[in-house]
Amino acid sequence: MDQLVAESTPLKRTMRTFDLTMLGIGAIIGTGIFVLTGKGALTAGPALSVSFLLAAVCCGFAGLCYAEFAAMAPVSGSAYSYAYLAFGELIAFVIGWDLILEYALQAATVSAGWSGYFNKLLEGFGLHLPVELTAAYGTNPDVTTYFNLPGFVIVLIITWVLSIGINQTKRTNDVMVLIKLAIIVLFIVCAVSVWSSRPTWPAVLPVRPSTLSSPAPPSPYGIVPAASIVFFSFIGFDAVSSSAEETINPNKTLPRGILLSLAVSTVLYVIMTLIMTGVVPYKEFAKYIDAPVAGVILETGMNWLAVIVNLGALIGMTTVMLVQLYGQSRICYAMSRDGLFPKFFGHVHEKYRTPFKGTWFFGLLTAFAGGFININVLFELVNIGTLSAFIIVSAGILWMRKTQPNAPRGFRAPGVPVTPILAIVFCFVLIAGLNWETWVRFAVWFGLGLIVYFGYSRKRSKLGLEQKAGADAKVAATED
Ligand code: ALA
Repeated sequence: MDQLVAESTPLKRTMRTFDLTMLGIGAIIGTGIFVLTGKGALTAGPALSVSFLLAAVCCGFAGLCYAEFAAMAPVSGSAYSYAYLAFGELIAFVIGWDLILEYALQAATVSAGWSGYFNKLLEGFGLHLPVELTAAYGTNPDVTTYFNLPGFVIVLIITWVLSIGINQTKRTNDVMVLIKLAIIVLFIVCAVSVWSSRPTWPAVLPVRPSTLSSPAPPSPYGIVPAASIVFFSFIGFDAVSSSAEETINPNKTLPRGILLSLAVSTVLYVIMTLIMTGVVPYKEFAKYIDAPVAGVILETGMNWLAVIVNLGALIGMTTVMLVQLYGQSRICYAMSRDGLFPKFFGHVHEKYRTPFKGTWFFGLLTAFAGGFININVLFELVNIGTLSAFIIVSAGILWMRKTQPNAPRGFRAPGVPVTPILAIVFCFVLIAGLNWETWVRFAVWFGLGLIVYFGYSRKRSKLGLEQKAGADAKVAATED
């Protein structure tokens, strides 16, 4: 542990609790609330906010485990480094590989949602992009599209900001998150007056045991499967921990940043979904599946609010991509430092002091993936990848408390062992709520990771090379 923490970092330390909380909220509030609530409402019925609460509880338990690890080992690798600490190189590699799903794939998925809201905003001003350039091929069965140009461009802009310095990243994120929060509060204040005049949900809120996995009549699924979907809305708080090497006093500020950002987002989500399902009867979200929040505004008749909220959604999704791509570059930076990924990802730019090449590598990959491939269907893969990371981090806390009970901890998760056990149980419940195709895709990704590890990383890892050098020295000594 000492070795991991003591490794000197050329990255620049500038972040404080406020920036970390903004980073967390930046990563959390985005596509989930602005796009997925439509699908969530059709799945959970009027009890959508209960699904959000369920996902929040799962993330709360996992968040406490992340907070303890972040305070104990404040290094860039986040869950990858925690797994390294607790379980060694193989599990760490697997989780690092898994996190590519969470970060890069997620940013590509969000770029598709971003493009949808951007096109709507343009339409509000009477402008139109050629329809072929509004989305990736096959996104919409009724329209021929080839390329998601807005998504492609925004990912490149974000990558540029990320690559030129942590201060630029921090400032851009802080400002955008404050605007996003102001717009969400404005939405809540405006919609609540309509909601109070026609509170649909108390009359129909069907939170009975039968609705947990089966119908909120006549919805075909239930609260748990909806929670598995809207779990996506909470992903991101863990990205805070990947800023450990750019944070002042990380042992104290990281746990605060993680838990505060999660708490603020949960409160906003629950209020928003209560209002949304109160204003619009849940079955009608079928009409607003791409932009459910905009749909709610339409029902309220406050059309002036639509442009502002569309802007809020765009900003929200921009910060999500910003923080996810940030986290991706830092995790690969840590993996490269340990020799598991090529040195390229660990290269730090002399002037900007950022992992410049790694940032551009993933930025371009994400821009092209989001530009050309219809990856909307893959957001569940992001969920399963993240849930698996949560399981390993929570198991890591159980293991570390057992094997290193006296290691210094800047923050101790309360209620261990119950907290990590509950985190694991909740994660499995949410994984069970995903469809089998997602499990298969995840297994394929996992298998690919093992091929990369045994074919490339294992032979080149620092640990492997050290062990080999030790073994060679032993052989030499014996021969002497
Ligand atoms: N939580 C992030 C979002 O909802 C991934 O966009």
